[in-house]
Amino acid sequence: MNTELNVSQSLTWRYAARRFSDKKVSQTALEQLLTMTGLSASSYGLQPYKIIVIENPKIKESLLAHSYEQKKVAANSHLLVLAADMSNVVTMVSSYMQSLAKTTGITALQQQAMRENMLASLANMDPEQQFQWASAQVNIALGTLLVSAASLGIDSCPIGGIDGRGYDEVLALPERNLRTVITVPIGYRHEDDVSANATKVRKALHELIVEI
Ligand SMILES: Cc1cc2nc3c(=O)[nH]c(=O)nc-3n(C[C@H](O)[C@H](O)[C@H](O)COP(=O)(O)O)c2cc1C
Repeated sequence: MNTELNVSQSLTWRYAARRFSDKKVSQTALEQLLTMTGLSASSYGLQPYKIIVIENPKIKESLLAHSYEQKKVAANSHLLVLAADMSNVVTMVSSYMQSLAKTTGITALQQQAMRENMLASLANMDPEQQFQWASAQVNIALGTLLVSAASLGIDSCPIGGIDGRGYDEVLALPERNLRTVITVPIGYRHEDDVSANATKVRKALHELIVEI
């Protein structure tokens, strides 16, 4: 598919693909998808996560044991692993402030105020709190990723049914200060993917909305 879908069309077109064809996502389309995902909103704009892109079939295979043997983890074009950034928050804020200063020309005084404000709410998190905070940001990026992929005609499946610690070990993530949150195989739907024609099951608006 060459034409990009609008948001509403993308949401209707997408589904959690359970079986992918052999067709590869091109490097250009992959970069476009990752660029779009990178535009996600995040807490203070810190984007406390990384997206690990895996094409190597052997590495994908070794993740199966940590994915309840869900075959789509190995049979796809690319496997994306979204991981929480567990590095030092003070360093994270400093590097954000540097890039903010470079990009916007914000004054030193404004920088100081922003920095203090950010650190007041973030600097005292213990590792588990940091993981929860970063995971919440990952999940926003996940939503952006799923919709962006669909807009580009790329299929995907969010997979939370994994043992994140197993992923961390296989991918040696702790040495990069990263911790797995979720994985998303991408590619193109297989013509025999039974999920492709499943009717969407969703709450009606009156079940979803609470008017106060
Ligand atoms: C956080 C999250 C975790 C999920 N984990 C799995 C999973 O482990 N395996 C799977 O086949 N689908 C998984 N899904 C896909 C959901 O089952 C699917 O999105 C849902 O049934 C709605 O269907 P649709 O996305 O096809 O519209 C997950 C979805 C989300 C958002």
